[in-house]
Amino acid sequence: MIKANRDLRVLVLGASLSSTSLNNRLAALAATLVTEKGGTADVAQIGDFELPFYDRDIEVETGTPDGAHQFCERLKAADALVVASPEYNSSMPGSIKNLIDWVSRLRPQPFNGKQALLMSASPSMVGGNRGLWALRIPFEHLGTRVYPDMFSLAQAHHAWAEDGQLKDPTLQGRLDQTLGCFLDLVEAAKHYPRIKKVWVEFLGEHPNAATDRVEEVEVAAG
Ligand SMILES: Cc1cc2nc3c(=O)[nH]c(=O)nc-3n(C[C@H](O)[C@H](O)[C@H](O)COP(=O)(O)O)c2cc1C
Repeated sequence: MIKANRDLRVLVLGASLSSTSLNNRLAALAATLVTEKGGTADVAQIGDFELPFYDRDIEVETGTPDGAHQFCERLKAADALVVASPEYNSSMPGSIKNLIDWVSRLRPQPFNGKQALLMSASPSMVGGNRGLWALRIPFEHLGTRVYPDMFSLAQAHHAWAEDGQLKDPTLQGRLDQTLGCFLDLVEAAKHYPRIKKVWVEFLGEHPNAATDRVEEVEVAAG
């Protein structure tokens, strides 16, 4: 069902480099649902952002690579982030951790205060869900509000119907409901932004110019 337009922009990231990716396909389906629910989806794939492995020498000598700035701009323009990420060896792929690491070096730190929904797809019976628990950690560390529910598509290589939806109507309904509830939260957080907090990277350390990363986030009055 098409809902009335809502002033919500969502960056939907397919976090696989594969041209036949199950996760990028799940991201595309999520983007369709965002649009159906009245939001605007900005679909990205991790391969759109060219990034060498994080290296302090590169950062010092030539600065943060363009790929990190490009991702940052798209994230800044969005009210929320949806990520569909593969699971590699029960964790996240190195490529998405690398993207997070580079982008986390920018100031203001762009993940802080963003709402995020995590999804995965895998041929396995657990659908890549263990990788999402690993992926929560850097996001939460960076102040991202990671939605408690996650969506993991098991046996994803058999999951799609011809029309691009999930074959199993119960699963399609669950995805639809999870995204709908997430967007309601994003909308509430956008209009009632008081839940945003100061971000402190290294809790409990003595003040020290080399490690201090504290940012005050302005909240609307009233
Ligand atoms: C290095 C590597 C490790 C993997 N580890 C897991 C794993 O721990 N759990 C899992 O469900 N699938 C694992 N897989 C299989 C991926 O889920 C599968 O290749 C999937 O299609 C990757 O997502 P994509 O299609 O979006 O690229 C692994 C694949 C590779 C290449």
